[in-house]
Amino acid sequence: MYIAFSTCVALALINTSQGMVKSHADNHRNITMKTLASFIAGIPKAELHLHLEGTLEPEMMIATGKRNGISLPWPDATAARKAYNFNSLQSFLDIYYQATAVLITEEDFYDLTIAYLKKAASQNVRHVELFFDPQSHTARGVGFETVLCGIERAFVEANNSFNISTKLIMCILRHLSEKEGMEVLEKALAWKPWIAGIGLDSSEQGNPPKKFRMLFDRAHQEGFFTVAHAGEEGDAASVKEALDTLHISRIDHGVHCMEDEKLVTELVNKQIPLTVCPLSNVRLKVFRNMSEHNLKLMLQKGLCVTINSDDPAYFGGYINENYLEAAEALDLDHHDIIKLAQNSFAAASLSAVHKQLYLKEIECYARQQIN
Ligand code: HPA
Ligand code: ZN
Repeated sequence: MYIAFSTCVALALINTSQGMVKSHADNHRNITMKTLASFIAGIPKAELHLHLEGTLEPEMMIATGKRNGISLPWPDATAARKAYNFNSLQSFLDIYYQATAVLITEEDFYDLTIAYLKKAASQNVRHVELFFDPQSHTARGVGFETVLCGIERAFVEANNSFNISTKLIMCILRHLSEKEGMEVLEKALAWKPWIAGIGLDSSEQGNPPKKFRMLFDRAHQEGFFTVAHAGEEGDAASVKEALDTLHISRIDHGVHCMEDEKLVTELVNKQIPLTVCPLSNVRLKVFRNMSEHNLKLMLQKGLCVTINSDDPAYFGGYINENYLEAAEALDLDHHDIIKLAQNSFAAASLSAVHKQLYLKEIECYARQQIN
């Protein structure tokens, strides 16, 4: 299929005037992008950087707020969407925590989780590692078990009905103290069978990885796998610090690693995965626009990069929209898409056998589509 389109452009280039060449080439590009869009939509993929609270669509936020008697600064979903105009990570987090306050009951957490998993499955996401922020709920008096039971109920239902596997990663809010983080980690120990990993999110500026060294040591002792946001707004040194002090197995975002050639070599040699979120980076002004995103350069360097949606209800798209907008702006081809999807399973916290099964699905899909 891919070869056929290249031939088509070659023919157009041989036998037409300058204007015709352009129109054939444009036409070719449109057809190719349409084909690539359906290729992206169908390819099996894993989502490894997704905040449950960031999937709260304005309509659900308004309805849940009404149901629970929580007042919001926006009268309706349209007004909320209008307010989603961010100039930094912090400007987003301020709104995100306000919206999160509508989530109170087990039903709320179940509804939110099942809605996301349904959407993910419809985009051929086969495996999800989902972040949640318990401290943003327990601080409002919501029980830790209320949050977990709602999420777990949706996980079981999705595993059985949507052909999707799931893992849960509990994120520690880095703008709070390590002591407060330790308290929630202690709570999590009683729920270990339901929590696979520990992560670190929220405001990167002023809250370096080393602030949570003891907490991550404890998480490792308890057998959790660990990840951390680093190098989103922070620099390459913050990625290096997260690796060296927290001993994490994956970096969330990490786009600023590219400023340090030595660090890039280390990440490539160790194949430490980076969960990149293109639409998030553009909406939070990490890059001015998608064509300035360094995702393609990261791929070309041999980094184990993946594409994810971060907070899709706020950033204008779920995983397929992230793949597609990046592909359009950065001129990614089928081979890049296959590599990104393969990376997503290679980077997952799955057994070698499970990874192989998913990688085989990609191989069958690619063979079917490209021949
Ligand atoms: N960065 C840090 N914290 C977050 C994010 C993010 O992109 N999304 C939700 N919490
Ligand atoms: Zn994130």
